[in-house]
Amino acid sequence: MERSDHIAFVVCKHDRLKNKARALSEYLGVDLREEPNRTDVGKYLNCGRDYYIEFKDALVCLKSLDHKKHGPIFSDFSCKSLEYRRLSRGVKQEAIARAVGVSGNYRPDVIDLTAGMGDDAFILASLGCNVTLVERNPVVFSLLENGFDRAQSYDALNIDIREIVKRMRIVFMDGSTFLNIDSVSADVIYLDPMYQKRRKSSAVRKEMQAFHSIIGTDEDAPNLVSVALKKARYRVVVKRPLRAEYLSNSEPSFSIKGKTTRFDIFVLPRFQK
Ligand SMILES: C[S@@+](CC[C@H](N)C(=O)[O-])C[C@H]1O[C@@H](n2cnc3c(N)ncnc32)[C@H](O)[C@@H]1O
Repeated sequence: MERSDHIAFVVCKHDRLKNKARALSEYLGVDLREEPNRTDVGKYLNCGRDYYIEFKDALVCLKSLDHKKHGPIFSDFSCKSLEYRRLSRGVKQEAIARAVGVSGNYRPDVIDLTAGMGDDAFILASLGCNVTLVERNPVVFSLLENGFDRAQSYDALNIDIREIVKRMRIVFMDGSTFLNIDSVSADVIYLDPMYQKRRKSSAVRKEMQAFHSIIGTDEDAPNLVSVALKKARYRVVVKRPLRAEYLSNSEPSFSIKGKTTRFDIFVLPRFQK
């Protein structure tokens, strides 16, 4: 479930994030270093520990020990792709918005049970939804938390982003454990679990490969859908590759299809008209 066996060590040069870096290295049971120290890289690569996490100034990123693989991976709510989606697309163009049921003035409260780097949740929050992001993988959560912390301290240039993240809260926990808390409730529960690796390789796919190494595939996702169906008030939304099978035993009420992905929407019977 929580895969940390691909992480060689944690690197932190500065005092600012030292406590977080130390906590993560202890949680993962790996060394905390001031420098990557490339002399023993071979040793780590040989035992499949091909990534490290770097805390540098205010940024936390995942890096490959084999630099040719891909550049640093980090959570960035001010990146170009999210900026484009936030500024040029609205509810009608964002399939995810229609999937969770955003319409008119209605903005559902959403729990994103598989937060990852938080992109989907950020888009929902940019459209006005309050979103709780739940992530269980310690490496991914560190990246997400750092993107979230940086966004909260953005200056006037990125004031919109700072306002958007005020509608988000992050939780480090397994999704089903979170849903079992009595006081937790949401209009809509959203899931986007990791799926099987595809063979194509582009720069983006290489980043996905990193995630597949760190996270693996979320084999317990069908169970998570069942728990979500018992807890959500109005809808459960599951993001899937376009041609993938349904994640649940029951068929969704309807699906919204894009070029490569599909949203399966379960409208809960007690609220169907
Ligand atoms: C494909 S990624 C999600 C990407 C995300 N939608 C985004 O926009 O960045 C799936 C994430 O869900 C997390 N995850 C899977 N099952 C989970 C569970 N039961 N509880 C919490 N997190 C889970 C994985 O660790 C992984 O980071």
